[in-house]
Amino acid sequence: MIITDSEKQISDLCEEWRKEGFSIGFVPTMGALHDGHLSLVKAAAEASDKVIVSIFVNPSQFGAEEDLDKYPRTLEKDCTLVESVGACAVFTPLSSSVYPDGFSTTVSVSGISEGLCGAVRPGHFDGVTTVCAVLFGIVKPDIAIFGKKDAQQLAVIKRMVSDLRLPVEIVAAPILREPDGLAMSSRNKYLSVDEREQASLIRIGLTAASNLFQKGERNCSELRKMFRLTVEDASLLNVQYVDTVDPDTMVRVEKVQNSVLLAVAVFAGKTRLIDNILIKSEV
Ligand code: PAJ
Repeated sequence: MIITDSEKQISDLCEEWRKEGFSIGFVPTMGALHDGHLSLVKAAAEASDKVIVSIFVNPSQFGAEEDLDKYPRTLEKDCTLVESVGACAVFTPLSSSVYPDGFSTTVSVSGISEGLCGAVRPGHFDGVTTVCAVLFGIVKPDIAIFGKKDAQQLAVIKRMVSDLRLPVEIVAAPILREPDGLAMSSRNKYLSVDEREQASLIRIGLTAASNLFQKGERNCSELRKMFRLTVEDASLLNVQYVDTVDPDTMVRVEKVQNSVLLAVAVFAGKTRLIDNILIKSEV
């Protein structure tokens, strides 16, 4: 497996693969990889001939008060893991090469990126879309895999690719969870034992809301209330937002017709965790 921070080496490699007729699958990440990330790499390996994983803690998507400096960095272990599930190359660019002097472009997807996480993390999605556009330009993948854990990110990236007619297919991968239901996240490493225990209530709350829907409740304020009720007694959890939205447009839904995405952000102590569930009729 090739590991490089050189943009030229990665783009030359991809060019060579394309000439040889190989399809390229791409998994952008910020590292500190867990099984959720690895499931994306496996999906890419099944759907394409050559898989590239990028590991780049992208400064432009972190707010001034956020955890850029302490974001976990485990590069060596990450490389061993992705190699074991079929990656052919790992691209680890430096910030100075992604954003060289004179870099002046921001890709900004309006509307869809403004609610939920966008409302509480101003500028976050501009950072995500800009870096993904740069990475897509370097790798020129046939497909790129994104996790449904970051449902708004997925929707924003799909919108960007569609609006800009970027020649890449965005593939959505399911959320991988710990045995107690907590969605896997690089930030779970920050949790104390007590916070970790209480954090499992997030999934329980999402499921409780889904169960309420299955019993016939179509009023989204009741679904949101059910989530809040489930987590509110946990002393270390603080709900930042609970929202019910259309999974493609992220527009607020008040009455469920066919399906609704219940999306939440919850602080466990100082650690911000996000999760979601697609609520729809079981057939
Ligand atoms: P990161 O948080 O490292 O996530 C990389 C990819 O892994 C994203 O597509 C995310 O949705 C997916 N992922 C994370 N946890 C997951 C889980 N439990 N199950 C399934 N997939 C999961 O998201 C980013 O990095 C960045 O914003 C990035 C797109 C790389 C741009 O900088």
